[in-house]
Amino acid sequence: MGDFEKPSRIVVTCQRGLSRWLGEELTELGLPEVEVFSGGASTSGSLLDCQRLNLQLRCASQVLYSLRRFRCNSPEFLYRELARIKWDEWLGPTSYFSVTSNVDHPSIRSTMYANVRVKDAIVDRIRETTGERPNSGPDLTGVVIHLFWRGSEAELFLDTSGPTIAKHGYRRLPGKAPLSEALAAAMLRASGWRGESSFVNPMCGSGTLAIEAALLATGRSPGLFRSDYAFQHLHGFRPELLADLRAELASLVRPLAASVHLVASDHDAEAIATAQANAAAAGVADLITFLHCDFKQTDVPQGAGGVVMFNPEYGQRLGEVRALEATYKEIGDFLKQHCRGYRGYVFTANLELAKKIGLRTSRRLEFATAKLEARLLEYELYEGTRKNKARGEASGAAQSAEDAPSATGESEPAGSE
Ligand SMILES: C[S@@+](CC[C@H](N)C(=O)[O-])C[C@H]1O[C@@H](n2cnc3c(N)ncnc32)[C@H](O)[C@@H]1O
Repeated sequence: MGDFEKPSRIVVTCQRGLSRWLGEELTELGLPEVEVFSGGASTSGSLLDCQRLNLQLRCASQVLYSLRRFRCNSPEFLYRELARIKWDEWLGPTSYFSVTSNVDHPSIRSTMYANVRVKDAIVDRIRETTGERPNSGPDLTGVVIHLFWRGSEAELFLDTSGPTIAKHGYRRLPGKAPLSEALAAAMLRASGWRGESSFVNPMCGSGTLAIEAALLATGRSPGLFRSDYAFQHLHGFRPELLADLRAELASLVRPLAASVHLVASDHDAEAIATAQANAAAAGVADLITFLHCDFKQTDVPQGAGGVVMFNPEYGQRLGEVRALEATYKEIGDFLKQHCRGYRGYVFTANLELAKKIGLRTSRRLEFATAKLEARLLEYELYEGTRKNKARGEASGAAQSAEDAPSATGESEPAGSE
């Protein structure tokens, strides 16, 4: 039986551009010695810790538990090292397993070949000890073994996730150009919003940002929507401990604070229907006000402020980009005129278009889509003039009549460039 309590190195992978936010999440969850690198973060812990990470992490893709780290210079050496691992502790002749890899070594022309060598080592070891061989194939529906091999460094992992956990399991309908759930969660984390104020998502598409906001604000872990992980197929897995963990996470779900409003709007009726279906699957449909309207008509709750986040299209062809110039300018006008007291965010992969927003950014956070570099642009949308805001902060004084919010934006538009 595999030991689920034995500590080892854990590597958590993520989508491009998310490792900083993943590192923060791991640290907040109390994992030790978190080190962030491009494409992921490392820490240490047991397989029980991996279980928890699979269920709780919002920005991750795969949780990998290290079995062996070694120097490796040839496929033969790889086979010999792998045959030393006591595979029969983790899987048996009735198990199904698959192998994935991330290999860059001159002796390996096709990753398929590396995968086959790993598979052979496992099958041979189990056949020797039991007389029978386990089944293997490409589907990630059982035990998953992951090989990392770069130059002379190799590491073999149990991939405790299987299919990626960047998908949070509630999306029934994709909609057009949806954000990945992990990217949306990282954008929220980058904004600093934790559910203490209102969140408005015009141009919501399939609703990913608003749904992730609702999950975060109510303490719902993404793992509550998923019933099968690769770690459940390992020998040594104890279903009762996972049931306890699920019960613990379910008990952390809290109601949305009465002062917090979550609003999502889109001018496409189909997008709104899709977003509502996805929110219903996530159990948060009644927490979000969905509006079918042009973004300029979105009702922004007034009073305590909060976050307004846009993920507009950024256009692939020149004609599309031209047409979007007016939209980006209107986004800037909307933020300036209707979102005072909020922090505004625009996620885009087209920085030329972003200039049309016409507001001064307070931060430009680096992100990426599957193919392109992207930025999450932040705009402070002050209640009054910036001059007054600075004065108020410096003195700590209560607002005077002079500092009252500027209704017209004529004196000094909030956050203007
Ligand atoms: C890139 S998609 C947003 C994808 C979304 N973040 C998701 O995860 O599914 C942009 C959305 O903006 C909407 N949109 C474009 N122009 C709009 C406008 N003038 N008013 C309201 N919605 C608009 C489109 O219908 C589309 O759903």
